[in-house]
Amino acid sequence: ERYKSLASKHLEPINQGSEQNKLFVLMKTNQSNHQIAEVARHRVFVDDKPAVITFETDISEASAFASFNTAVNSGQKLRLEKTVAICSDKEHFVDDALASAFAAVKSAPDFAQIVSENIAQWRNLWDSVDIKIEGDRWSQKLIRLHWYHLLSSVSPFNQQLDASITARGLHGEAYRGHIFWDELYILPLYDLHLPEVAKSMLLYRYRRLDEARKYAAMHDYKGAMFPWQSGSDGREETQVVHLNPLTGEWGDDHSSLQRHVSLAIAYNVWDYFWITNDISFLKKFGAQLIFEICRFWASKAQFNDSTGRYHINKVMGPDEFHEHAINSKEGGLTDNAYTNIMVAWLFGKAKEIANLLNDLSMLSGNFSASEIEQWQEIASKLNLVINEEGIIAQYDGYFDLLELDWEKYRQKYGNIYRMDRILKAEGKSPDSYKVAKQADTLMTFYNLNKNEVDQLLSNMAYELPKDYLNKNLEYYLQRTSHGSTLSRVVHARLAAMTANQQLSWTLYSDALASDFNDIQGGTTGEGIHAGVMAGTILIALNTFAGVNYRGEILSINPNLPKAWKKMTFGLTFKGIRYQIELSADLIRIRANKSTSLNVGNNTIALHAEQWQEVVY
Ligand code: IFM
Repeated sequence: ERYKSLASKHLEPINQGSEQNKLFVLMKTNQSNHQIAEVARHRVFVDDKPAVITFETDISEASAFASFNTAVNSGQKLRLEKTVAICSDKEHFVDDALASAFAAVKSAPDFAQIVSENIAQWRNLWDSVDIKIEGDRWSQKLIRLHWYHLLSSVSPFNQQLDASITARGLHGEAYRGHIFWDELYILPLYDLHLPEVAKSMLLYRYRRLDEARKYAAMHDYKGAMFPWQSGSDGREETQVVHLNPLTGEWGDDHSSLQRHVSLAIAYNVWDYFWITNDISFLKKFGAQLIFEICRFWASKAQFNDSTGRYHINKVMGPDEFHEHAINSKEGGLTDNAYTNIMVAWLFGKAKEIANLLNDLSMLSGNFSASEIEQWQEIASKLNLVINEEGIIAQYDGYFDLLELDWEKYRQKYGNIYRMDRILKAEGKSPDSYKVAKQADTLMTFYNLNKNEVDQLLSNMAYELPKDYLNKNLEYYLQRTSHGSTLSRVVHARLAAMTANQQLSWTLYSDALASDFNDIQGGTTGEGIHAGVMAGTILIALNTFAGVNYRGEILSINPNLPKAWKKMTFGLTFKGIRYQIELSADLIRIRANKSTSLNVGNNTIALHAEQWQEVVY
């Protein structure tokens, strides 16, 4: 229903025709005016020898057909080889889409060679990314399915495009091909396996920095504020009204206030640098992005004399069910915990980067040491609301919301994952209830190690009970309907972090099969969920294999699901390629350079190209 009005027809014909044994069609996208050319070369062989053919064409608007006659005797083998090139002028290296497509088919090798090159390239890709799982064929297939769909959308073969990965891959029209914060779930995988591809996605953001500066200025902020939904030119593309399919009614949509998308971009820049050690990227592009984003947050944080703290208002967290305070019609909330903690984290990283670069004059925008010090001051005084049990309120005012009678709703509706729509259809508002679509406060622990969060909180002068993570997980999990499949990915990781293996596995397997089984009843047909696909692969690595890449050296603390008898994979961290094999109590590991890594509480030395075995 939501996509009924979409045209699903995006191309207009420009030209079509034939040239010797070739057919062509040239189209253009009807809004962005990009040309796309398709040229097909036809060759006919009789008993593997080129045959002379007469080619008859049938050309009409937007289509080009051909038929041919050739003499074949009984017992002879006839082979038609059709080689197609598709080029668009959006690719950096193409000026004239049609000329490029002609050139490509002209120089294309024969079918057998194309196939064997294709197989070889896929093999290279699988060698970089594959995870082998013994004992659980189902997980094995789904993890490969997810890599396959991600690679079909973004791979070394399209990294030259000025694009990033859209929320639904290249598979459907949902979200109109826009790019959200879902990159946060996706980029780390590419950092570890195909860093050049990760870099190209970050450059998509870098090229739109000016647009993000304008967007910030438009709202009277400084620095760069990236749009919640980004398309070709980097302006805000988020819709301002939203259809509730249960009622057929349109309501306000404040989701563009999810300013945390800028935090996701900065987080991805940092992760990319940390995992790859690509200092030249940091100097040329990454630091500029991070500093501009810091400047934006600093301009958004307001000091309040009476609380003695900085407050950030008019934002939404990742939980999209809460768009405004109970008694306000104006969109946005104050002191979203996820946002404030991640802002504090980011300001700390800016200081680390400033120390690393040692010279801020390479950046445009006159960033000074005192501005960076001011950010540290804000980081230490950002406001959070925390109750006596150590529950960190999703935002200021959250504890005043009503509790939902979850059992009643489950019995009445069965599937309650879109509680927002159900409540609205009943004339109520999800803004009034403690009901979350997906992880919000808890998202912090998905992004950062617990000890990083501990440090940030103590720097903000907050003291929490030792078991505050378990308490927060229990608290929020009971109040989350998993209206986004991303939610299960995050909670699966957190459940494992708090030693609840069973829960972790249940949430993980639901997330793993979510597109395969289309568990949201039709949304997969609108496009796969790229963030969930990537998130489930990353959880296999960072949670079940227990690979932690946030420290100076790699750490491994495996925690394999019961059915996974053995897990084998490779990854690259700080320029070192690791091959890792895990079974119930044994880790086998080999690095292509001498290095060390942590297993549990022990640091072990690895000698270049030698397998090392560790019982854990
Ligand atoms: O970015 C997500 C969001 O977190 C939940 N709704 C869908 C968006 C696109 O995948």
